[in-house]
Order: sequence, then structure tokens, then C-alpha cells
Amino acid sequence: MNPFPIVGYHDSEYFCDREQETKDLVSAIKNNRPVNLTSIRRIGKSALIKHVFHQLPKTYRSIFIDLEGTDTKQGFIKKFTNEISRQLITLNKGMLKKLLDWAAGFGASISLDSLDGSPKLELSHNQSPAIETLDGLMRLMQEHPKYTFVLAIDEFQEVTKYDTANVEGWVRAKMQEFQNVRFIFCGSEQTLMQTIFDNPSKPFYQITQPMHLGYIEPEKYKPFIHDHFGGKVSQDDILEILAWCRNYTYYVQYFCNHLFSLRESGEYTSLEQVKRLILESHKHHFLAQRKLITPIHWKLLKAIAAHQEIKNITSKNFVQRSGMAATSIRRSVQVLLEKDVLMEENGVIKIYNVFFQRYLETLI
Ligand SMILES: Nc1ncnc2c1ncn2[C@@H]1O[C@H](COP(=O)(O)OP(=O)(O)O)[C@@H](O)[C@H]1O
Ligand SMILES: [Mg+2]
Repeated sequence: MNPFPIVGYHDSEYFCDREQETKDLVSAIKNNRPVNLTSIRRIGKSALIKHVFHQLPKTYRSIFIDLEGTDTKQGFIKKFTNEISRQLITLNKGMLKKLLDWAAGFGASISLDSLDGSPKLELSHNQSPAIETLDGLMRLMQEHPKYTFVLAIDEFQEVTKYDTANVEGWVRAKMQEFQNVRFIFCGSEQTLMQTIFDNPSKPFYQITQPMHLGYIEPEKYKPFIHDHFGGKVSQDDILEILAWCRNYTYYVQYFCNHLFSLRESGEYTSLEQVKRLILESHKHHFLAQRKLITPIHWKLLKAIAAHQEIKNITSKNFVQRSGMAATSIRRSVQVLLEKDVLMEENGVIKIYNVFFQRYLETLI
């Protein structure tokens, strides 16, 4: 297998560092401290959670609920049910019947996936079970007090986008009610996560341990890359990869994945070849993005890419070089931050997507 997976979590062997974060999370779970874990996208939150799940003793049963793409309460209920029942069903034989009875109680059915036998909730047309129906499912977990269930709810900020039902309030109530369930809340949209956890008038105010996930330390990433190439990559190349990918997990993995597969095929491949290949294969996507962005925004993005990152967006130097008015820059940056085209880190503005930045650089 390619030792640089770019989708999901595979095994601790392919997982770089995060030792302290893993310890912190395991400790929070064991000591019943709910956690809210935030970071920019694609840095490794979901992978870290799955890694932590692998470290827990057998009496811990972990459930990963990814809310990405759910835009209604209905979607939430479906994901929640599917993931919890998938775990419950492994506990004992009688569980399937209990799950079927529970689902029938609100006119749904649970079918088993023909491939892996995992249960899936089927809701009949235009049916919208109340969120409270999930209480019954949670009670099935409580029937197994010898287990501790760890519920990781990924991209939790999605709940703020649902138009009906107070999902936050419901989850908060469950945290109090169910003693053998631990909660981890993850999210990439940090402003929205703040509206959930830092607002004194909201149910989650000051009840979770905040954790922020940063970049993998280069000093940890370097030996990891070296070893997984079996030593067949120079230190200079490693430094270059980390710099070109801004030490940003997904992009580093993506780069190494390609470099590894190309080199394995026999021919020597230079880093420049990999860069060209990556940009070429993403070009179509970036050109499509250009159509969605106004010419002014595009101009600003190119100016930012030319500088790599901007500390003071309305500094004389940047205003002059971008050829835009300071007010226009400020407004455009705001819009592009909201669209996640730009990101702000310690007061520095950057293009969010590393490969997009590198692509923009080729246009200058
Ligand atoms: N510590 C790590 N070591 C190696 N690869 C990682 C690590 N953390 C994440 N990855 C890889 O980077 C990709 C992005 O990580 P992910 O967990 O999906 O980020 P997030 O949840 O923060 O958006 C994953 O597909 C995974 O393959
Ligand atoms: Mg994730």
C-alpha cells in the first residue's frame, strides 16, 4: 500500500505524530470531559479522532458521526441512527430486534447492507421523525453500562445551519442524561464553532474542553516522510515538499502519495514533475472556480499569492502592488474569508487551498 494515504485513517503506522494530542484526547475521554476540537480543514482532525479510537481499551465503543453534507434535522437523525445502530448491533444478537422495534415506533425501517451487514435507517417518503425519537436509541446504549460509548460528532457546526429543531439543545440534554456516553465535537468552520461554544446564551457555553489542532511539527514530519520512502528521498527534497505544501497535512500527504507512486513505477521523478502534475490535474477545477469569482476578487487572490501571505492587507506596499483601493481590498478579503477561499492565521491572510495558491503563482 502507498504509505501516504490521502483519504481517511488507516493505521497508526501511516499516521504521523499527534502524540500529545492523542494523549490529551484519551485523557479527556477517560475522565469524562467533553471536548470541542477545532482547526482549519484538512489538517487532520478526523484522522486524529479515528487514531484515538484505536488507542482506547475494548470497553470503549466508538462512534463517528460525520455531519458534513447534512443540511436538515432529517439528515442529522439519519446519520446519528445509522452510526449508532452500526455500533450497537455488534454488541449482541438481540440488538437487531430492538433496533427494528425502535424504528417501527416512528414508521421507519432498518435494513442491513447486503455487503457488510451494517444497518441503515430507511425513512419512508416525507416522514420527519422528531429528534426526540433518538432518545430511544440512546437508551439502548444505556442498557450496556459495562461499555462506555464515545460519540465523536464531526463537522458539528452544521447543526447551526438546520432550519428546524434545536439540535444543539437536544445534544446538550443527552450529555447530561446518558452517563456512559462521552462526547467529542469537531469542526472546521471555526467561527460557527465559536457561536456554539463561546456564546453565554447558548447551551454549550463553557461545558467543553477546547482543543485546537495545529500543523504537524516539521521536525516530526521529516523523519516520517524519510522512513516511509524507505530513505529514498533526500533531506533537501523533504524540506522542499514541506515548504511547497506549507506543511499542511492533506497537501503534504497528497504530494508524497504521488511522488511515491511515480518513483515506485521505476522512473526517477523530480519534485518539479510532481508539482507540474498536481497543478495540471487541478487546473480544470481552478479554472471553474475562476468563473465563480469576480474579476476584482481574482485580481486580489493573485496579488496575495504573489506575496505568499499578507500581514497587513491595507499596507501601502500591498495596496500599491495590488493596484486596488484599500476599502475594496478590505471588503473583498472579508468576502473571500467567508467563502473559505482565504484563511486568516495569527493575523496573516493566506490562500486557503495550497495547490490553488501554487496555481495562482504560475499566473503571475
Ligand atoms: N497525522 C497524520 N499523519 C498522516 N496523515 C494524516 C494525518 N492526519 C491527517 N492525515 C491525512 O490528511 C488528510 C486530511 O485529514 P483529515 O483528518 O480529513 O482533516 P480534517 O478532519 O481536519 O479536515 C486525511 O485524509 C489523512 O489521510
Ligand atoms: Mg474532518
